[in-house]
Amino acid sequence: MNNILEVKTTSPDYKGQDPEVAALDFRNRIRNYEKAYETIDDNEKSFTYVKLINVGSTVIINQIKDYLSSRLVYYIQNLHIKPRSIWLSRHGESEYNLTGKIGGDSNISERGEAYARALPGLLKKSGVPPNTKIVIWTSTLKRTIQTARHLAAETGFEKLEWKALDELDSGVCDGLTYEQIAQKYPEDFAARDEDKYNYRYRGGESYRDVVIRLEPIIMELERSENVIIVTHQAVLRCIYAYFLNTPQEQSPWMEVPLHTLIKLTPRAYGTDEQRFKADIPAVSTWRAKGTSAKHQEYPTEIKA
Ligand code: F6P
Repeated sequence: MNNILEVKTTSPDYKGQDPEVAALDFRNRIRNYEKAYETIDDNEKSFTYVKLINVGSTVIINQIKDYLSSRLVYYIQNLHIKPRSIWLSRHGESEYNLTGKIGGDSNISERGEAYARALPGLLKKSGVPPNTKIVIWTSTLKRTIQTARHLAAETGFEKLEWKALDELDSGVCDGLTYEQIAQKYPEDFAARDEDKYNYRYRGGESYRDVVIRLEPIIMELERSENVIIVTHQAVLRCIYAYFLNTPQEQSPWMEVPLHTLIKLTPRAYGTDEQRFKADIPAVSTWRAKGTSAKHQEYPTEIKA
């Protein structure tokens, strides 16, 4: 029934149609599937299959043997179709952001603190139905914990710190600015621009590594209902790309401004996205391919 309701409002097949006509048509479509599909039953012992009955209340698996298949079973077992949203925010502007340094574990700046104070109001403004419980996830780094502090105190929401949400490890480049990296490690700097998704910092991580370490986060997110995640630029790009299906070559270059709350609402046919900007200035930490520009001050109006 939930599926039919979603179809009425969100399926591209029924865009612009009367919702009742769409629901009726969809019911007929199911009847047609029933005519054509064959049920795999207990006699088909040699087939590899997963049966999900009533959105995972019962799960039947057969001949699941290899690593990837068992991960897939675990994944689909965790899926649910209850309406919910996931909010993503970077930490408030940090002291390292102000000086253009990457990595580290610095405190948030004064403007970052202003964002931390504004976050509960911003979340409210984004539309939270009454009595909604939201769980707050942060990384283990100071800047995300400081950013979520007021939100946790004002709402009383449960708060979890995840090591897996820590920023991409920039190895030997930790604590340097992009300009310094370009001077000290010119070949690495160019190699990263060439293939940012796969480039692994010396002694550190690549975006691909981050995606792999985010697997438990994605599994837990799929099992959970409403969650607000306060994390870092690279990690946020990876989580965002998972929900919005952004290609690997694009995801490491996406602009995810500071002091902006992103609300994602997964639907049957994609994810709805809304952005809410706090009216608190911050530097831009976005770097275009081929440049080593220092972190820039946004124009007076913060760009989306
Ligand atoms: O500059 C902020 C920051 O979070 C750094 O700590 C991190 O290395 C960087 O962003 C990741 O962004 P990019 O992959 O574009 O360098």
